[in-house]
Amino acid sequence: MLRLSRRRLLTLGGSALIGTLPAPRITNPFTLGVASGDPLPDGILLWTRLAPKPLEPAGGLPPAEYPVEWQVSENDTFTKVIRTGTATAFPAYGHSVHADVSGLRPATEYFYRFRSQGHLSPIGRTRTAPAKTAAPRALRFAVASCQAYTDGYYDAWRHLTAEELDVVFFLGDYVYEGAINSVGGSRMDSSLRLPDTFELETDTLDLYRMRYALYRTDPDLQAAHAAFPWILTWDDHEVQDNYAGDAPRFTTIPENDFLVRRANAYRAYWENQPLRWPRQPAGPDMSLHRRFRFGDLAHAYVLDTRQYRTDQACGDGLRAGCDDRNNPDRTLLGAGQRDWLLRRMGRSEARWNLLAQQVMMAECRYGGTAGRLDMDKWDGYAADRRRILEMAAVEPGTVVISGDIHNNYAADLRVDFGRPETAAVGVELVGTSITSGGDGSDTTPQLDMQRAFNPHLRLANGQRGYLRCELGRDSIRADYRVMSEVTRRGGTVSTRASFVSERVRPGLVTA
Ligand SMILES: [Fe+2]
Repeated sequence: MLRLSRRRLLTLGGSALIGTLPAPRITNPFTLGVASGDPLPDGILLWTRLAPKPLEPAGGLPPAEYPVEWQVSENDTFTKVIRTGTATAFPAYGHSVHADVSGLRPATEYFYRFRSQGHLSPIGRTRTAPAKTAAPRALRFAVASCQAYTDGYYDAWRHLTAEELDVVFFLGDYVYEGAINSVGGSRMDSSLRLPDTFELETDTLDLYRMRYALYRTDPDLQAAHAAFPWILTWDDHEVQDNYAGDAPRFTTIPENDFLVRRANAYRAYWENQPLRWPRQPAGPDMSLHRRFRFGDLAHAYVLDTRQYRTDQACGDGLRAGCDDRNNPDRTLLGAGQRDWLLRRMGRSEARWNLLAQQVMMAECRYGGTAGRLDMDKWDGYAADRRRILEMAAVEPGTVVISGDIHNNYAADLRVDFGRPETAAVGVELVGTSITSGGDGSDTTPQLDMQRAFNPHLRLANGQRGYLRCELGRDSIRADYRVMSEVTRRGGTVSTRASFVSERVRPGLVTA
């Protein structure tokens, strides 16, 4: 046992008592880029993480605290710096930095950067939300999800970076938990040689942290973070495929063991995303649902359909004749989050209610009236869905944006999908994956079958890409941006389909 004299302890100061060391000099620690998120009218959350050796445990840093200065400027040359501060990168939080900047002007573009140990970070650009009392003409946003690193290159992010956007919504599967071979899966022409630890499925805090580090070393992803503020939520793969609340995918794992894993995953998620300090998890619990206001134009409700859900009905998967999916005791949001959402939707003073969430809400039959339904989606939680759609029927302006499924869909939402003659109560825009699933294709027999048996679907497409949306005062427009390919570098982007829908009489029409 190492014994330190009292004098030696005093020399080391307080940091020795909490298990940290004086900070030694380091090489460039800004290998993971910068990010901003959760925009408010007067504030923004700035993020970075120090990792001079990103693919090593702890990013190659000793267990020391590092001060990190940040600057916010009105221009990208930083001659008009209007806010500065110093944050601390704590080893206990993976040397991440979460700087909560306030005192900014609404609906304004800003630039930011960090400095630590004599190194300057890349520059990020961000934008605050409009004032609460403002009446914005439009909100421009992108919808993205599912970026399996091993399934392809991030050229979709490069194209998204060139769009004109106020904010990016990322709807889950930021990382995938599965083993990665030493050359990074499909990224075969890469010079990448990953450490053997990536061949383990993530379950410890270190493995989850290293997984985020791997993804964030990608320059196209870094550019997309540096170009816009992001609002993120998670789906299943940030923890484990198709987990449900306290229940792991494979029930052979004791529940308590799974909750340890969930705690590791949630902690790494918070550390690696532009989220404010109060969002920090407590053990296996982390409150991620929240609301953002864009003047009187839109309220965005960011939902968490994983943490509080009932275990999937009828053993999960595609099921026909599963009556349990209609059980009113089953919930996708959990009673607390569902009631929070319904209360706010019901007295919304905004023209639009934008529900940013993970899994497809519209009914999606795989075959005729006896066709199978996916128990992992809202189809497996019909009572929760009905309550939200009944609210949408009396509160105009509901738009649901979704991810998870690695396909593009455009859907009219109805309280009863079995009665196509009834009025739509809102629309759902399901965005495809950035890379997950590989190149994909415009149509497949399954997508054709879904279009045939689900008359409320206006589009079903299986390519990669993202959605580009413009929410106006009276209508929304959505452009489905699809990639030529992702398994080789240099994929091009084009608009596969465009739709508009009116606020008061919703229903998707080809634009
Ligand atoms: Fe996914």
